[in-house]
Amino acid sequence: MQTDRDPVTAHRAIEVEGLHKSFGALEVLKGIDFSVERGEVVCVIGPSGSGKSTLLRCVNLLEEPTAGRVTVAGTEVTDPDVDIDRVRRRIGMVFQSFNLFPHLTALENLTIAQRRVLRRDRAAAERVARANLERVGLSDKEAAYPAQLSGGQQQRVAIARALSMEPELMLFDEPTSALDPELVGDVLAVMRGLAQDGMTMLVVTHEMSFAREVADRVVFMDAGIIVEQGVPERVIADPQHERTRTFLARVLDPAAAGISEATEAEAPPGDQREP
Ligand SMILES: Nc1ncnc2c1ncn2[C@@H]1O[C@H](COP(=O)(O)OP(=O)(O)O)[C@@H](O)[C@H]1O
Ligand SMILES: [Mg+2]
Repeated sequence: MQTDRDPVTAHRAIEVEGLHKSFGALEVLKGIDFSVERGEVVCVIGPSGSGKSTLLRCVNLLEEPTAGRVTVAGTEVTDPDVDIDRVRRRIGMVFQSFNLFPHLTALENLTIAQRRVLRRDRAAAERVARANLERVGLSDKEAAYPAQLSGGQQQRVAIARALSMEPELMLFDEPTSALDPELVGDVLAVMRGLAQDGMTMLVVTHEMSFAREVADRVVFMDAGIIVEQGVPERVIADPQHERTRTFLARVLDPAAAGISEATEAEAPPGDQREP
């Protein structure tokens, strides 16, 4: 049923207004305004220390904003009277470090919060868990412990665990940054599938090809502000601000930046240096 016009559900996934966050004297977020529509995939890029993680953590109130309003799926999370546990239940969060319970199998990692928080019985929780392990391509690993899985597999278990709580939106904080390069693709493929299925996603990432292909919008942050945002073709291929250009030049490899021929022509073949 199409319920988009229902006044109760016709809300944005995330709305951030005038968000400031300081740690002591250090002002990390200096006035952030932005929103994420339902079903939208937004990638946040920017240098280390620019406040990307802090922004994500303010969305689910892992950090308390110093000033401003944050609304998630129609509920103002910065309202002092909000039931934050209730709000967090609707938000899936995937971190750089997978944070799986080492003493629990993959299946148990997926069922524990369902049983404790959602009060599902074992059979129901396992049904949901198996469906989500299948979704991330790990049906054969349900009995494995985290230490028996590769980093990429552990991160896919972490994504399946978040999905098992049936969140309305998912926050990803550099989900592939801790992975060996050859394991990144499988995790990004799972995330691409989620995006295609219509999941609302806010993703901090340095994977520019993912941002380019999957994001509806790219947000570039630097030093606690949003410097620019727009469709990926605009922000990544045609940035308007010098700070964005400097950042992109650092993270994009020459091929992706479209200057591969010149760079390759200048690079001496390795064997010329052989005696
Ligand atoms: N809990 C904290 N206490 C003090 N400083 C913090 C805390 N969390 C983050 N910071 C500081 O805030 C700044 C932004 O951090 P962060 O949001 O993690 O940036 P990013 O994710 O873009 O790398 C950094 O200077 C960092 O050291
Ligand atoms: Mg970070």
